[in-house]
Amino acid sequence: MTALSLTNVCKSFGTVEVLKDINMTVEEGEFVVFVGPSGCGKSTLLRVIAGLEDATSGEVEIAGKVVNQTPPSKRGIAMVFQSYALYPHLSVRNNMSLALKQERQSKAVIDERVAEASRMLNLGDYLDRFPSELSGGQRQRVAIGRAIVRQPKLFLFDEPLSNLDAALRMNTRIEIANLHRQLGTSMVYVTHDQTEAMTLADKIVVLRDGRVEQIGSPMELYNNPANQFVAGFLGSPAMNFLPGAIVQDGDKRILGVRPEDLTLNDSGPLEATVSHVEHLGGDTNLIAMAGEHQLTARLFGQHQVEEGRSVRLAYPPEKAYFFDDAGHRLT
Ligand SMILES: Nc1ncnc2c1ncn2[C@@H]1O[C@H](COP(=O)(O)OP(=O)(O)O)[C@@H](O)[C@H]1O
Ligand SMILES: [Mg+2]
Repeated sequence: MTALSLTNVCKSFGTVEVLKDINMTVEEGEFVVFVGPSGCGKSTLLRVIAGLEDATSGEVEIAGKVVNQTPPSKRGIAMVFQSYALYPHLSVRNNMSLALKQERQSKAVIDERVAEASRMLNLGDYLDRFPSELSGGQRQRVAIGRAIVRQPKLFLFDEPLSNLDAALRMNTRIEIANLHRQLGTSMVYVTHDQTEAMTLADKIVVLRDGRVEQIGSPMELYNNPANQFVAGFLGSPAMNFLPGAIVQDGDKRILGVRPEDLTLNDSGPLEATVSHVEHLGGDTNLIAMAGEHQLTARLFGQHQVEEGRSVRLAYPPEKAYFFDDAGHRLT
């Protein structure tokens, strides 16, 4: 069964249209990531799914039932926020059991679910602590535990890793992937971070300015972006764009090449002056100017290249992307 389906969903605040005709589905057990720049409407869309905001028009269907008129608590969803939103005066155990007490579940059920969730999240030793006595990563795990004990049909995550430092973000990302594997529950996860989208998603929905730009698996979007925005948003360092690099039938085209597809090659078609070199150990990033356009070449391994030197760069022809002036992909 389809876990979530959005049909022509629009949302305006006053005269400001924030979501414009959103259509997408989440299949049973699927991990779907909404990704896009800050302000593109990701949180608003999640809140419309949760029922914290009403759609201005369109349909929200969860597990085969239209829920536009259903209050959040009856939608079978559980949401995890960036800010954790834990109750400071309640212990970890009580934060996790609160929703179940409100549902009037028996003590036996509550104890069992809290024990199971805290085992999955390695929180067993912290059940009697208060949120102020936990690290940021532990607080976020409590927030996730609070969602798990409710056994929702659909999890909604809004940038859950944004408040964590880089190392913890990576660990927690792997934990969330493992959790999804163990629970098998459908998840919708919002982030502005393309790495989180690429690593976690079965399916990515790229949003820009309240519209869906493209939907597909991480590799589909990476290898076959529909437009310049998607091509530039997924991948790090981002795809290089050289406007006017190619003239075909008198038309100017924008050439797109990913940094990892560029190599130093004396007979390469691109000439550029190295402006900066980043030595990452395993890789070397050359930042170079091709005329007035900046390029990044990600070279495998360690390379000594002087800044200011002129180099030639090559790429396999099949790795070149072309876009028109409006950013549409040309085949
Ligand atoms: N309650 C609101 N009233 C008016 N405008 C809002 C409200 N909530 C969000 N917006 C606007 O909607 C747009 C999308 O916001 P949001 O969904 O939070 O984006 P994202 O989560 O992608 O960063 C922003 O321009 C924001 O200012
Ligand atoms: Mg947001």
